[in-house]
Amino acid sequence: MPSLEAAEITAGRLHLRPWRPYDADAVHRLCQDPQIQRWTRLPSPYEHAHAEDFATRQAPLSWVQGTGAPFAVVDATTEELLASVELMHITAQGEAEIGYWCAAHCRGQGVASQAVAAVCRWGFGTLGLSRIEWRAAVGNVASLRVARKTGFVLEGTLRQALVVGGGRRVDCWVGSRLPADPTPPGRPPHRSG
Ligand SMILES: CC(C)(COP(=O)(O)OP(=O)(O)OC[C@H]1O[C@@H](n2cnc3c(N)ncnc32)[C@H](O)[C@@H]1OP(=O)(O)O)[C@@H](O)C(=O)NCCC(=O)NCCS
Repeated sequence: MPSLEAAEITAGRLHLRPWRPYDADAVHRLCQDPQIQRWTRLPSPYEHAHAEDFATRQAPLSWVQGTGAPFAVVDATTEELLASVELMHITAQGEAEIGYWCAAHCRGQGVASQAVAAVCRWGFGTLGLSRIEWRAAVGNVASLRVARKTGFVLEGTLRQALVVGGGRRVDCWVGSRLPADPTPPGRPPHRSG
C-alpha cells in the first residue's frame, strides 16, 4: 500500500489530527474508562506502555504503511483530547473499517458523530474509498446510534466475529456506508459543556 499523507481536518469546534507521542499520557488516562475497555479491541487492562506504543509507533506506522488513518480528536480551541476516530484495514481495493471511542466526560455531545462524519467525508473524498465498514459488539447501542446518525446502514450480525474487552469473543453488528449513501439530516453540532 502507498503511504498516506498524514491529514488534519477541522470540523466545527473539533480538530482532527495525527497522534503525537505526547498524547500517550492522555490516551492512557482516558482509556481506563470501563466502557472503552468493555466495547473496543484495546488491550485490557490498558497499561501505559500500550498507550505509548500506540502514540509513538502504531499510529505513525499506519500512515506510513497506508493501512490506516488514525486521528486524535481534540477541541479546536483548547486542544484537549476528546476522542479517537480511525480508519483501519485500508485496502488497495478501497475498503476500510471505522473505529472510535470518546472520552467519558464529553459523551452525548455529538463529538463522536461529528468526528466520524468528518472522517467518512475525508475517506470518500480524499482517499476515494468505496466502502467503509462499521462493526460493534451486539448491545453497544451508543456505537450503533453514532453509526446510524452518520449514515451507516446496518447489514446484520456476524457470529463471534469480534474480540473485545481484552479477549472476549462476541457476536457483532456489521454495517457499512457507501459514498452515495445520504448523510442523515440534522448532523448534530458539537455542544460544549
Ligand atoms: C460510542 C461512543 C464513541 C459515542 O460517543 P459520543 O460522543 O457520546 O457520541 P454522540 O454524542 O455523537 O452520540 C451518542 C448517541 O448515543 C446515544 N446513547 C449513548 N448511550 C446510549 C445508550 N446506552 N443507549 C442508547 N443510546 C445511547 C446518545 O443519546 C446519542 O444519541 P443522540 O445524539 O441521538 O442523543 C462512546 O459512548 C464511547 O466511547 N463508548 C465506549 C467505546 C465504544 O463503544 N466505542 C465504539 C466501539 S464499536
